[in-house]
Order: sequence, then structure tokens, then C-alpha cells
Amino acid sequence: MGYREIVKVGDPILAKKSRAVEKFDSKLSALLDDMKETLYKFQGCGLAAVQVGVLKRVVVMDCGDGYTELVNPEIISSEGTQEQEEGCLSVPNEHGITLRPAVVKVKAQDRNGKWHIYKGTELKARCFCHEIDHLNGILFTERIIRKENP
Ligand code: NI
Repeated sequence: MGYREIVKVGDPILAKKSRAVEKFDSKLSALLDDMKETLYKFQGCGLAAVQVGVLKRVVVMDCGDGYTELVNPEIISSEGTQEQEEGCLSVPNEHGITLRPAVVKVKAQDRNGKWHIYKGTELKARCFCHEIDHLNGILFTERIIRKENP
């Protein structure tokens, strides 16, 4: 297929909870391929399936350290805190400082259903949290603690 249009804030689907993936089939692969193309076309560092209108627990990411696919991701541990700027492809022209863990470990399946463990710090830790929030219907704007760092 190709890239898909990004759902923008104001669309009620962004507040919905995504469902777990149970079938690791060609439809899932096609969704992931389209999401990857969409991520790079719009130059995001992460994209959740709900942002292309699909309520499945699927995320693609590239925080500058390579491309990663996360199916049914879950945070398994986190430590520390960071306060840094975030934005979102679904919320154009809005940025703000959020409070996130400094280090996050995530478990997630790949497109074949195999489980992996990932660790993120800094931008990648923020991205894991931001994208998993999307799967639970939460936008980063709900997490903004202030507009700018002093
Ligand atoms: Ni986002």
C-alpha cells in the first residue's frame, strides 16, 4: 500500500484504547509496512496504529538508533525521571515539557509474535512512554507540566 494519513487531535479515536494483537498474519505485516512508511514520510520518531486510525496495540519507532516494531508493548520497569520537550504528529504545532521516567524497559512482540526486551533512555524512554500512552488513549498534552524549560 503506502503511507497513511495521520489522524489529528479532535478525532475521538485518539482517546480510545487499542486492542491487543492476536493474529500475526499478513494483515499485521501490511499495517506495519504502511506505518513504517508513514513514520519516515512525516519524520516522526514514533507512531502508534491509532494515529493511522487502527485500534491495535502496534507501534513503530526510530529515535535515530534504528527502526523498531513493537506489537503489544508493555513497560516492565522504569526508573528515575526526566523533564523534556515532547511533540506528536497528531498534535501539530504544539510542544510542551512532560515528566517521564529516565530509563524504561519494554517487552514487545515482533511481527512474527516473538517477544523481545528493549531498553530506552532519554528520547527513546520518552518515545516508549508516549507511544504506549497512545495505545491507552492518552495524548502527551495531558502530561504537559509546563510549556518551556527555564
Ligand atoms: Ni504521538
